[in-house]
Amino acid sequence: MKNQVKISPSILSADFSKLSEEILSLEKGGADMIHVDVMDGHFVPNLTFGPPVIKKIRKCTKLPFDVHLMITQVDKYIKDYADAGADIITIHPEATNNLSQSIDIIKSCKKKAGVSLNPETSVELLKDDLLKKLDLILIMSVNPGFAGQKFIPEVLDKVKFFRHKINNNKLNIDLEIDGGIDFKTAPLSIKAGANVLVSGTTIFNNTGSISENIKNLRKS
Ligand code: DX5
Ligand code: ZN
Repeated sequence: MKNQVKISPSILSADFSKLSEEILSLEKGGADMIHVDVMDGHFVPNLTFGPPVIKKIRKCTKLPFDVHLMITQVDKYIKDYADAGADIITIHPEATNNLSQSIDIIKSCKKKAGVSLNPETSVELLKDDLLKKLDLILIMSVNPGFAGQKFIPEVLDKVKFFRHKINNNKLNIDLEIDGGIDFKTAPLSIKAGANVLVSGTTIFNNTGSISENIKNLRKS
């Protein structure tokens, strides 16, 4: 079990009119990485960032970019996001015909590879041979598409399942949880075994400052 909990703030909830300042505040506030939610209006009913935006904001920080691709036909676009400055590229199994091959594409771009499981997606999809290739597992605790949704507690069983698997097999995989993470659900997620918390609403829209919110999420 990795002891330090990492915080990956989602810039989906940032003020886009001052994105570079927001990213700077995240860095100063102690964020470990920047979670970039890429949506194409097909895989999920919402549209967000393309590679040119990522390329521009890449200059604002040295923090790793944790890029969560919620797009169809993902193989076509992996290289574009890698070239734009992603450090970790996470994909959904539903977005590819061959998950293993898509992971190999990420690896061939020399980036860390993650797979994200929706609340309804079974853990069985990640077989042992596939796990060996992964740097990150992202457990969705809401249905992807929008910020500010309610945490689905049933997904904590999946977090526990993968925490055991990672520890028992001594795998070097980050276990990340995404959606509805606040000061109540963060401790539940950490207890279940997550070591990376994604959060948008709680970090950007809570009453505290960005740095207070990050600190409180980490210690919760
Ligand atoms: C949902 C995204 C999440 C989301 C997190 O599709 O993957 O990263 O923006 O936002 P909050 O913290 O508001 O649930
Ligand atoms: Zn996300």
